[in-house]
Amino acid sequence: GTGLNALIQAKGKKYVGFCADSGTFGNAQTAAILKAEAGQLTPENSMKWDATEPSQNSFNFGNADALVNFAQTNGKILRGHTFVWYSQLPSWVSAINNKATLTSVIQNHITTIMTRYKGKIYAWDVANEVFNDDGTMRSSVFSNVFGDWTFLDVAFAAARAADPAAKLCLNDYNLDYSGAKLTNFVALVKTLKARGVPVDCVGTQSHLIVGNGAIPSYKSTLDSLATTGAEVQITELDIRTNSSPSSSQISQQQTDYTNVVCGCMKQAACAGITVWGVSDSQSWIPSVFSGMGYALLWDANFNKKAAYTAFVNGINC
Ligand code: G3I
Repeated sequence: GTGLNALIQAKGKKYVGFCADSGTFGNAQTAAILKAEAGQLTPENSMKWDATEPSQNSFNFGNADALVNFAQTNGKILRGHTFVWYSQLPSWVSAINNKATLTSVIQNHITTIMTRYKGKIYAWDVANEVFNDDGTMRSSVFSNVFGDWTFLDVAFAAARAADPAAKLCLNDYNLDYSGAKLTNFVALVKTLKARGVPVDCVGTQSHLIVGNGAIPSYKSTLDSLATTGAEVQITELDIRTNSSPSSSQISQQQTDYTNVVCGCMKQAACAGITVWGVSDSQSWIPSVFSGMGYALLWDANFNKKAAYTAFVNGINC
C-alpha cells in the first residue's frame, strides 16, 4: 500500500491511526480514507464511560461494537479509549463517595468492557488526563475518594486481569512542553511501575497549535516519556490554527507536522501515531476553540492538504 500506515510500517513503526466512530466512518469518503491510510482506529467517543455504562451495570455497546466490527472487517488494530477519566463520566459514578463501592465499580466497568473485546484491542487508555496543567493530581471522583494515586493501581490491575495481551496506557495532554506536568507524569509512571502497577505504554495526546514554540523540540518530549521504559504513543494528534488560515500559517503547519512525525521516527520507543480525525469537517476543534480549525490532514471537502505531504515528509525524515 501507499497510505500513511504502509509508509510508517515500512520504516519500522507499528501504525498510523485515526479516531473514528460510526458517525464518521459511516460517511463513504471517510471510510475510504480510513481503509487506505489507517492501520489503527481509536473510538472518538463510543467507549467512554457515559457511552458504555450510562447507568450502573447497564451496558450499551452499540457504537463500540460498530467500530470494532469496522476495524476487524478492514484489518485495523484498535486502541481502546478510555476508562478512568474525569470527563464524559455519568453522574451516578461522580456521586460515589466511598472507596469500597468505587473500587468495585471501576473493576466491574473495566472487566466487562475488556472481556467483551478481549484479544481485539492493541492498547487501552486505562486512565486519561489525571494531571492538572501545573503537574498536580487532578480533582475527580477517583482522586477525591481514594485521596491518592491508588485508584490507578485498582484500574490497571483490573485491566491486566481482564485482557493480559492488551497494552495498558496512561494518557494525557499538554505533555508537549518541558515543565511540571511532563516531569510529574514521567515520575508517576516510574513510581507506578516500581510498585508493580502494569503500565505498558504512555500516551501523549498532542493537541498542538500551529507555530507553538515547543514543537521544534517535540522529540525531547518523546525522549522524556521514553525514560519510563514504557512504549510511547502519540494518541490524539492535531495541529490547529485559524479556521481560515493565512498562507504563512499553512506553511508553518507543514513544518510543525513534519517535526512531530519526525520526532516519533527518531525515538525508538515511539510506536505509532493516531491523528484525531480525518477531515477538518469532523474535528472537535471548531466547537471548542471558536474561530480555530484546519487541524487535520484532509480539508472539509476531503482533499489531502499540504499537511498530509508534511506528514509523509516526517515519516521519511
Ligand atoms: O452524544 C451526544 C448526542 O446525543 C447529542 O445529540 C450531541 C449534541 O451536541 O452531543 C453528543 O455528545 C457529544 C459527543 O462528543 C459525541 O458526539 C458531546 O456534546 C461533545 O462534547 C463530545 O465531544 C468529544 C469530546 O472529546 C468530549 O470531551 C469529542 O467528539 C472528542 O473528539 C473529544 O476527544 C477528547 C478525547 O477523548 C480526550 N482528549 C481530548 C479530546 C478532545 O477534547
